Amino acid sequence: MSRILVTGSSTGLGFLAGQRLLQAGHDVIFHARSADKAQALRREFQVDIKCVVGDFSVMSDMLATADAVNEIGNVDAVIHNAGAGYGRGVDRTQEGLPTIFAVNVLAPYVLTAKIASPTRLVYLSSSMHRVTAAIDDALWEKRDWRGSQAYSESKLYVTALAFAVARLWPNRFSNAVDPGWVPTRMGGAGAPDDLEAGVVTQVALASAETGPLGALSGEFLHHKKVVSPQASTRDIRLQESVLRLCRESSAVDIER
Ligand SMILES: NC(=O)c1ccc[n+]([C@@H]2O[C@H](COP(=O)([O-])OP(=O)(O)OC[C@H]3O[C@@H](n4cnc5c(N)ncnc54)[C@H](OP(=O)(O)O)[C@@H]3O)[C@@H](O)[C@H]2O)c1
Repeated sequence: MSRILVTGSSTGLGFLAGQRLLQAGHDVIFHARSADKAQALRREFQVDIKCVVGDFSVMSDMLATADAVNEIGNVDAVIHNAGAGYGRGVDRTQEGLPTIFAVNVLAPYVLTAKIASPTRLVYLSSSMHRVTAAIDDALWEKRDWRGSQAYSESKLYVTALAFAVARLWPNRFSNAVDPGWVPTRMGGAGAPDDLEAGVVTQVALASAETGPLGALSGEFLHHKKVVSPQASTRDIRLQESVLRLCRESSAVDIER
């Protein structure tokens, strides 16, 4: 049995991952944006689940979420699943960061830096990460806002973060997953890919399933298969730029 945190597990892929892991007998820590959503999650399961609360568009909540997880005890794995989509116009946090960047990139970085030593780290990416990197204006201070581009860039950066973590911490397993375009609230009812197939990879990676998946690190996976990520995510300069941007945006350092 492993203790596994799944962020953004109030609905969608995070909820399903948490549910699958719980059913398999793991000690799952769910995460919800608010106390009300945590309460709704408890009602849904009708058992006494562990659930931490934090809004990832708020810097102090990212830190408090990590503290709350550490208070529960060491975790074996984290699925960095919480994600903000791009339906609306530009939306910025109190610190002036695009919310998409805060939720999709900065929160995984802060939680990675602050949560006590999980061996397995899984970062939810997307096929949409295959875009040109724009690290020189990653926070959209000079460009006109384009939500789908900002979302795509956030998935490029979180993929580079997954690979940076694999490089910096060779004794841990850190991978990025493209779940496919699946029918969740974010994916929309008409999404063409299979929801079940969209959840199995992160569950397998986080629970150290025996077989070849359990030994992978620094890989990009889709439906339990290693596929090629956008080449720039392998570039150490891009990875270091992402780490620097996250450090400067959060004043949190990742251990090297
Ligand atoms: N669905 C797809 O087709 C697809 C494709 C590629 C990648 N992905 C990625 O897969 C992951 C899960 O997506 P999904 O489709 O399951 O999306 P979803 O149904 O919209 O669920 C997103 C989850 O993230 C949480 N979240 C969003 N903003 C948050 C915030 N500010 N603070 C804390 N939690 C927050 C949501 O909580 P609330 O309920 O409180 O909003 C929810 O639990 C995301 O990283 C997404 O980018 C999805």
